[in-house]
Amino acid sequence: MFSWGQFRRVVGTVTEVRTSVISQLQLRKIASDQLRYSSSMADKFKLPSRYGTGEKSVWVEYIQLAAEYKPAVNLGQGFPDYPPPGHVTKALAEIATGDNPLLNQYTRGFGHPRLVQNLSKVYSPLIGRELDPFNEILVTSGAYEALFSAILGHVDTGDEVIVIEPFFDCYDYMITSAGGVSKFIALKPKSNSDNMTSADWVLDEEELTSLFNEKTKMLILNTPHNPLGKVFTRAELEVIANLCKKHNVLCISDEVYEWMVYEPQKHIRIATLPGMWNRTITVGSAGKTFSVTGWKIGWAYAPANLMRNLQVVHQNCVYTCSTPIQEAVARSFEYELERYNTPECYFFSIARELMPKRDYLVKTLRENGFNPTIPEGGYFVVADWTNLADKIDLSSEPDKYKDYKFTKKFAKEAGVLTIPPTAFYSEAHKHLGENYARFCFIKKDENLQLTDKLLREWNAKK
Ligand SMILES: Cc1ncc(COP(=O)(O)O)c(C=O)c1O
Repeated sequence: MFSWGQFRRVVGTVTEVRTSVISQLQLRKIASDQLRYSSSMADKFKLPSRYGTGEKSVWVEYIQLAAEYKPAVNLGQGFPDYPPPGHVTKALAEIATGDNPLLNQYTRGFGHPRLVQNLSKVYSPLIGRELDPFNEILVTSGAYEALFSAILGHVDTGDEVIVIEPFFDCYDYMITSAGGVSKFIALKPKSNSDNMTSADWVLDEEELTSLFNEKTKMLILNTPHNPLGKVFTRAELEVIANLCKKHNVLCISDEVYEWMVYEPQKHIRIATLPGMWNRTITVGSAGKTFSVTGWKIGWAYAPANLMRNLQVVHQNCVYTCSTPIQEAVARSFEYELERYNTPECYFFSIARELMPKRDYLVKTLRENGFNPTIPEGGYFVVADWTNLADKIDLSSEPDKYKDYKFTKKFAKEAGVLTIPPTAFYSEAHKHLGENYARFCFIKKDENLQLTDKLLREWNAKK
């Protein structure tokens, strides 16, 4: 005879066995339903083909790399590691704690009135025409969104866009997602001397001419240039302008580094060349102008008929940008306009502050086996690392391109993070960027000095 306890245990076990058989069957069914459901979901909800395979951008990948390897210095992304001008951050603090509650609410969609008025005051004299603040200027979420609105607002299916390589990597994605086709032309070094400057990187005029045809809608220019630091000369701009006029092509001029131009170079706005105003959209950035890249306010200016197309994209995508930040940028412009003709004006002092940093980094790189191109503008140095190739074993790095392998291994070994320039080339031309690494020099002197120390230590170990 079973005792009551034994009976309960046997019944319990039988029930457990039964339930576990049932549950396994049920689980299998649920799993197969889920699999079917999720594979149909995967098909239905996959990334639209206009975004390609959706690979991580170089920025996402290298920010993760920095978090993982914690390099001693990060000369990767382009932003200062020191405070912006005091009056700029003070303006934002005053707005946030001030007594006008409306500065925390939505503002005019196409640009906060005080900001567009100040943008007009800054740019009208620079382009030699009165900019209508309300019809010829659009405030955007960083220069990034100005580029997005300009490209999406003009490029149609099958339109061709000429892109100068190396190029700020988002241009191509924006063109493709608008249904357009990028046509690439690379700036190439005239020679590979030890004393190269960014002026030695040039476009082949014949090659450029050959890219223009009846499908060409737009050309994207970036001067001062990221990553090379090239400041296009008037003669170079004239070649581009004449082709744009001859083929009735629009020019997007990305001028976010407009104030970072090193003596004796001068920044020339292509919109000011004869016949170019009507076909140029110029893009600027408060992040770069005032060293506040995290504020993400930018703008575009152009004739009203062109701006209308950008406004349509903007109003259906971002609609309006942050009010307090626009107000703070407006006040910062007012502050600088007040002292425009003095050496303290930040528009001019920033290049003076950056020049010794540039020179220091160039010297450090040279003394440690790199061959840097001296930039005439911007805040990056592109340096050829191939003289160091026999000191570094790249075989452990699985990346496809040598500059990715080099920058990753170098970050791990030397503790200095840089950016691989092939990210700025089309697939067919990536080999042109493989021998280089991009270094950012808008960094504290102590971090540039630390870079020097780390490079020397790394070299000494080899
Ligand atoms: C050439 C170029 N264009 C546009 C941008 C984007 O500027 P923002 O940060 O204002 O969106 C950058 C930022 O690094 C850049 O280098």
